Amino acid sequence: MRCNTRRAPLASTDTILVTGGAGFIGSNFVRHVLARTSGKVVVVDKLTYAGSLLNLAGVIDDPRVTFIKADIADRIAMGAAFTDHRPAAVVNFAAETHVDRSIDGPMPFIDTNIVGTFVLLEAALALTRAQSPDERKAFRFLHVSTDEVYGSLGPEGLFREDTPYAPNSPYAASKASADHLFGRTSTPTACRPLSRTARTTTVRISFPRSSFR
Ligand SMILES: NC(=O)c1ccc[n+]([C@@H]2O[C@H](COP(=O)([O-])OP(=O)(O)OC[C@H]3O[C@@H](n4cnc5c(N)ncnc54)[C@H](O)[C@@H]3O)[C@@H](O)[C@H]2O)c1
Repeated sequence: MRCNTRRAPLASTDTILVTGGAGFIGSNFVRHVLARTSGKVVVVDKLTYAGSLLNLAGVIDDPRVTFIKADIADRIAMGAAFTDHRPAAVVNFAAETHVDRSIDGPMPFIDTNIVGTFVLLEAALALTRAQSPDERKAFRFLHVSTDEVYGSLGPEGLFREDTPYAPNSPYAASKASADHLFGRTSTPTACRPLSRTARTTTVRISFPRSSFR
């Protein structure tokens, strides 16, 4: 993860919009935020086969949590979510994530992982244009990616940030495509004005799902 240390930390009372917050990692992140801050969390999740409100049991009724059942590729719904809640930060976990499913039927991966990420960037750009200069300076957009964008590792070695992209499934290709909307230097190429006014970061998660489930 690249960090711009010149920026002030988020206030502990800020609102964070978490997409895919009813999924595996997103739901744990929501719990983490609620436990560590006094801020509000807006969870946006389509509740696909992979998402469940059961993952948010015990926190979904917290008055600091708002749940919005919506598709991140729905421009009207995302525009409303950003306008209504004016988040100080966005963390994008929402994705179609199953490699085998992407081989059987790639279209939802394109719709969610590429178009959905773009729609979120557009909504964030519109929000930052309506923010005060201080709010805009503090605004962050964290996009969660995967090490699969780099392809397969041999028995040894590590991926690095500058490892060439070599996606080898529709899932990996869709995540790689979304990464390129941000660029490799935290500069969103699809929404360049956002990069001039706000901080965006792409973090690529790398761990075997089986070790957590
Ligand atoms: N779990 C891993 O091992 C792993 C590894 C590397 C990267 N990642 C990345 O981390 C992120 C989270 O992974 P996860 O394992 O929690 O995924 P998951 O499949 O458990 O959860 C994804 C969530 O996104 C929601 N979602 C899917 N499409 C949506 C849409 N169009 N609009 C709104 N919500 C939608 C689902 O309902 C679900 O709640 C993903 O971006 C994934 O690519 C995960």
